[in-house]
Amino acid sequence: MVRFSRVALAYPDPRGRPGPEVLRDLSFTLGEGSFTWILGPSGAGKTSVLRLMHAALRPSSGEVELLGLPLSRARRRDLPPLRRRIGVVHQEFRLLGHLTAWDNVALPLRLAGASEAAVRTDVSELLGWIGLDTKQDRRPEELSGGEQQRLTIARAVVTRPALLVADEPTSDLDARQARRTLALLAEMNRLGTMVVVATHSEDLPARHPARTLTLEGGRLVADA
Ligand SMILES: Nc1ncnc2c1ncn2[C@@H]1O[C@H](COP(=O)(O)OP(=O)(O)O)[C@@H](O)[C@H]1O
Ligand SMILES: [Mg+2]
Repeated sequence: MVRFSRVALAYPDPRGRPGPEVLRDLSFTLGEGSFTWILGPSGAGKTSVLRLMHAALRPSSGEVELLGLPLSRARRRDLPPLRRRIGVVHQEFRLLGHLTAWDNVALPLRLAGASEAAVRTDVSELLGWIGLDTKQDRRPEELSGGEQQRLTIARAVVTRPALLVADEPTSDLDARQARRTLALLAEMNRLGTMVVVATHSEDLPARHPARTLTLEGGRLVADA
């Protein structure tokens, strides 16, 4: 479960003092197995909400509870294990350019200490599933934008996170690739992962109807 209770967020200004609030009075609860859109124009606060959802930030006030852990009570050492249960698809792909497609997807498993046998099984299954098994030896720059995006999603889900947050995962893709990426996220959700996707485009929620939290100026203006 993800619960925001009266959350506000202010980034520090250049002197380290709190700047203006970019999120205000946000309250909502997302249940196990849910799929949720975070919709709003650029600057509305979508990425900031996702940063709170993967424990990259703590709120300035209010409470964020992630997978049973209230961040206000989380100690520093609680955060790495929490973050390992949350898959993140950043808007800029952040793939490692010197690693092959295979090794990019394998990396989180290896960091989590999985055996090489488990890595082999899981990575090959996932690369097949995203349709990149024939391109596993290529480096990211040798893949199309859509292929890189799918690879980013594969890397985010290979450790079977309880929660997957994706920041505008289709914004740089053509229509066909965007449909395919969306199908992948929907399939992850069908298999039991809680999925949260930020987008500025109303087309996506229309194509995959689900709960939609609409942000404007850092406030929740609709929840439908
Ligand atoms: N690291 C940061 N430091 C200061 N202000 C930021 C930072 N990141 C985002 N902001 C500000 O917070 C507001 C919301 O931004 P963001 O969450 O990126 O919105 P969105 O993803 O909807 O475009 C904007 O006014 C933006 O300028
Ligand atoms: Mg953003």
